[in-house]
Amino acid sequence: MKLAISGKGGAGKTTLTALLCLSFASEGKKVLAIDADPTANLAGTLNFPDPEKIIPVIAMSNLIEERTGAKPGTSGSVFKLNPKVDDIPEKYSYAHNGIKFMVLGAIRNASAGCACPENTFLKSLLQHLVLERDEVVIVDMEAGIEHLGRGTLAGIDALVIVVEPGRKSLDVAGRIFALAKQLGLKKICFVANKVRTQEDLAFIKKNLPEKQHLTGSLPYSEELLAIDRGMPLQTAFKSFSENVKAIINEVTGNQ
Ligand SMILES: Nc1ncnc2c1ncn2[C@@H]1O[C@H](COP(=O)(O)OP(=O)(O)O)[C@@H](O)[C@H]1O
Ligand SMILES: [Mg+2]
Repeated sequence: MKLAISGKGGAGKTTLTALLCLSFASEGKKVLAIDADPTANLAGTLNFPDPEKIIPVIAMSNLIEERTGAKPGTSGSVFKLNPKVDDIPEKYSYAHNGIKFMVLGAIRNASAGCACPENTFLKSLLQHLVLERDEVVIVDMEAGIEHLGRGTLAGIDALVIVVEPGRKSLDVAGRIFALAKQLGLKKICFVANKVRTQEDLAFIKKNLPEKQHLTGSLPYSEELLAIDRGMPLQTAFKSFSENVKAIINEVTGNQ
């Protein structure tokens, strides 16, 4: 199962990604969590000790040079377009509570599709993660998905768009949905987050793009908010494990 989580900044992508990882891991599945959002802190949310010591793949200049044949930061040089990456998750991921984890780091000039060794390396790595791994792979992404490329996106079983009850979040969701459809994503799901009232839920349902239906929801909760202040994710997970399982069942198609 390969899942990508997207949505407006602050909607709850990282929180949902972490809860999904915990839920899959609690069922004994091998989980590989990928932080692909330059502003994310998935490591902290997953309670990794010393998250600031985790080195993003993009910062591994020697490795990127060894694999692509060119120094990162140089453009216009000749480099390999399909560098070897299949040993990277084993060698360079971090592990905690049974969850493997990697931070990709910021892709330079992503929207311009910059052809430089480091972008090529990250793209090859993502493609490998999505197309060739047998773990559950969950990618915490930013709102933009255009830099991923069709090949990688085609391997994603479902894109989960997190929405909160607000106009801006739903506007962003609409743009992601349109792009994802255009790029041929197999399945696009919507999960409501920070829901306080029936009105919140009704507002989200009414404003989902193209009359899409809601896959699941998480309430607004002080426990989920407190994760950001260092409260162990496991504590909040206990309270919401049924919501998360229901979301997984819908997203993966198991009833
Ligand atoms: N259901 C929720 N209830 C309360 N606070 C939440 C909830 N989901 C997320 N948060 C809080 O909202 C903030 C943004 O969440 P985060 O998952 O980091 O969003 P994103 O990754 O989309 O930017 C964090 O402080 C987080 O603790
Ligand atoms: Mg985030």
